[in-house]
Amino acid sequence: MDHDEALTAIASAPDARALQDLRVRLLGKKGAITEQLRGLAALDPEARRTVGRELHERKSALEAAIEARKGALERAALEARLAAERVDLTLPGPRVPAGGHHLLTQVTHRLLDVFRSLGYDVAVGPELEDDHHNFEALNFPPEHPARDAQDTFWTTDGRLLRTHTSPMQVRYMRERTPPLKVVVPGRVFRNEAVDATHEAQFHQLEALVVGERVTMADLRGAITEMATALLGTGTRTRLQPSYFPFVEPGAEFAIWWTHPKTGREEWLELGGCGMVHPNVFRAVGYENVTGFAFGFGIERLAMVRTGVTDIRDLYRGDVRVLEQFRGVA
Ligand code: DAH
Repeated sequence: MDHDEALTAIASAPDARALQDLRVRLLGKKGAITEQLRGLAALDPEARRTVGRELHERKSALEAAIEARKGALERAALEARLAAERVDLTLPGPRVPAGGHHLLTQVTHRLLDVFRSLGYDVAVGPELEDDHHNFEALNFPPEHPARDAQDTFWTTDGRLLRTHTSPMQVRYMRERTPPLKVVVPGRVFRNEAVDATHEAQFHQLEALVVGERVTMADLRGAITEMATALLGTGTRTRLQPSYFPFVEPGAEFAIWWTHPKTGREEWLELGGCGMVHPNVFRAVGYENVTGFAFGFGIERLAMVRTGVTDIRDLYRGDVRVLEQFRGVA
């Protein structure tokens, strides 16, 4: 390879590897130029000077060409990378589908809005409760048959998953002084055989109002106000006698409404209510007050309002079901 061929080979070396091979062949320890330089020793001084100068010029030219090619290859590689990684900031981004609140969350928020607007505080209690708060302080004596209606899951240390939100009445009253108005949303548990209308976990909303002269008329008014806020003016409510240990008198309440699917007007049984039992006030150390309480299941309200007929659909986490209930409550 003569000098010009060497320069051409360098200028067209396809990559760093080929360029390095050329460098070794030309300028390495056993390279062509190196060999020729070594041969200078055999020449007479006159020739050595001219040939030597020429060899050194060629050597510098080759070194410069190799450096130039190296730089060109590196620039080309960088440009290729920049082109490959180029981002067009003017393109629209990928669309992230908007999430939404679960139907039960929506209904709960709606209820809390209603009660907040009526001046109620909002509180939450523990899901893992003890016998005292879940039963004893709510006037369920040990062995009382009313406990059987609320079978639940117990821990090995004798605590239980709360069967209702009512225990928070006790916790809340102990931490405050009357008068008070509070609602308690939350998850509750029952040892149920699961079917279309029973789950081992569901949600309730509890309400408690305590003051000096709170009467059953106030209870009736509160339920009617809630029903009106949810379903519109002219909503009628009904109380019918029932038994819960922590209220006396106790009742079940229903609201008169038009079923959204059948179009039929009917009573919708929603929950239990009553005047707080004196034994409950005794348990929390309250004197000279009266109060009312009510509580109901959130699933049932959500289901009848949306036409969901199987409670298990609310817990399966199937978006095809859940996405039908965007912004319904
Ligand atoms: N805690 C009751 C239950 O889960 C419902 C209930 C009834 C709540 C009467 C109340 C009430 O506050 O006064 O079955």
